Amino acid sequence: MSDKKIKLGVFGAGRGAYLANVARQIGFELVALCDVFEAQLRHAKKTLGGDDKGVTYYTDYDKFLQHDFDAVILANYATQHAPAAVKALKAGKHVMSECMAMFTMGEAVELVEAVEESGLIYSFAENYPYSNQNLEMARLVQSGEMGKFMYGEGEYIHPVGINDRVALTSGPEHWRAWMPITYYSTHSMGPIMRITGTRPIRVNGFVVPHDFDDPHNQGACKIKIDDCASILMCQMDNGALAKVMPCAKLRDHGNRFRICCNRGTMEWNQGNSQLRVRRMHLDWPGDQPETEFYDPKFPEEFSQASGFGHGGGDFFTSYLFAEAIRGNRPVDIDVYKAIDMTAIGILGYKSALQHGVPMEIVDFHDKKAREVFRGDDWNPDPSRPCKNKPFSSVLGKLEYSDEDLAEFRRLRMEYEEKL
Ligand SMILES: NC(=O)c1ccc[n+]([C@@H]2O[C@H](COP(=O)([O-])OP(=O)(O)OC[C@H]3O[C@@H](n4cnc5c(N)ncnc54)[C@H](O)[C@@H]3O)[C@@H](O)[C@H]2O)c1
Repeated sequence: MSDKKIKLGVFGAGRGAYLANVARQIGFELVALCDVFEAQLRHAKKTLGGDDKGVTYYTDYDKFLQHDFDAVILANYATQHAPAAVKALKAGKHVMSECMAMFTMGEAVELVEAVEESGLIYSFAENYPYSNQNLEMARLVQSGEMGKFMYGEGEYIHPVGINDRVALTSGPEHWRAWMPITYYSTHSMGPIMRITGTRPIRVNGFVVPHDFDDPHNQGACKIKIDDCASILMCQMDNGALAKVMPCAKLRDHGNRFRICCNRGTMEWNQGNSQLRVRRMHLDWPGDQPETEFYDPKFPEEFSQASGFGHGGGDFFTSYLFAEAIRGNRPVDIDVYKAIDMTAIGILGYKSALQHGVPMEIVDFHDKKAREVFRGDDWNPDPSRPCKNKPFSSVLGKLEYSDEDLAEFRRLRMEYEEKL
């Protein structure tokens, strides 16, 4: 495909509406958008335009897929991306999927097979690897300057108060109300994998349980029945260890990444855009300072990224998707990497429920090895039956009262009326 506009459909009108706007600025032509939630759809139409802008709106995903477009962005529920991706690939559409790649290990098998059979592009929209700090760490590691990767840390911390909780969660059935704390693992593992070029081969999961004393776990907020924080200790395929904290509720909103190699260490931390690079004299003889702090810039060819969300990451995911569709670059975060960074969250929870026993992260390139997960539907969705169903918290079933739920519903209705 040349540089002509790529016709785009977007599934999901929350984050999806924002991504549709980003994609338009990058050379996609938005032609269709789908969401079953009509108030959200109306809101999206106000910002993106309707017939006047050539956009058709759908509430039914199957009908939406019949629309004439080349590529789809999946920004539907985080726990429903894989089946939506499989359907879209079968309908002949290139796919960019929001996080997570899949919700069960069985879905990972179906997803990888659909991608392989289709010959179409599947690009995972994990955006955290593309902040300027993470891109700079990738440059330093991949140039060989820092030596061998030995140890890494990745944290994504996002505590939420009642107003945001109500805006982000439609009710107790919504994934944000019940998804276990280890599951949203791609924002913290994605950068480590991309910076170092390694993949996890084993995970041990540990959970800091639900905090009953947290003032933001009271009243209407009680419908959120998960835990406080988790650590996924991952062994990487080069022998390094990576300590990953997915979407914790600790009071330090932001990200932190640390990459230790055998010739130097790099890190950056919540709220401070500066990268700290340490080159000790024992490895770098001379009089130069051992520690350097600086604000990395995007490489010249990507300078336009700085105005986009998530530290520029939201530019890269759509831009790289378009580049892959046009055949200008290989897919950057492909289906195998997407499965690796998502699987540690699923299997990490299974591990945590057994006090941290190790779980293998199978390489899905290996058709025989991945077969072990065919049909594996183990999952914590209260509405989706499976054998040995886990609760959303390591403590077991967390309760809320009818009054807590009624209060949540009242606040949510107020929010929806204002949309
Ligand atoms: N990468 C990031 O930085 C980032 C940031 C925010 C959200 N996300 C991801 O984006 C996705 C969407 O998140 P969100 O914040 O918009 O919240 P959300 O998950 O509540 O929104 C999903 C939307 O999809 C619609 N939807 C779901 N199933 C549907 C169906 N079968 N038919 C029609 N419509 C359907 C819902 O009505 C809803 O409006 C999630 O996967 C989330 O993880 C990623």
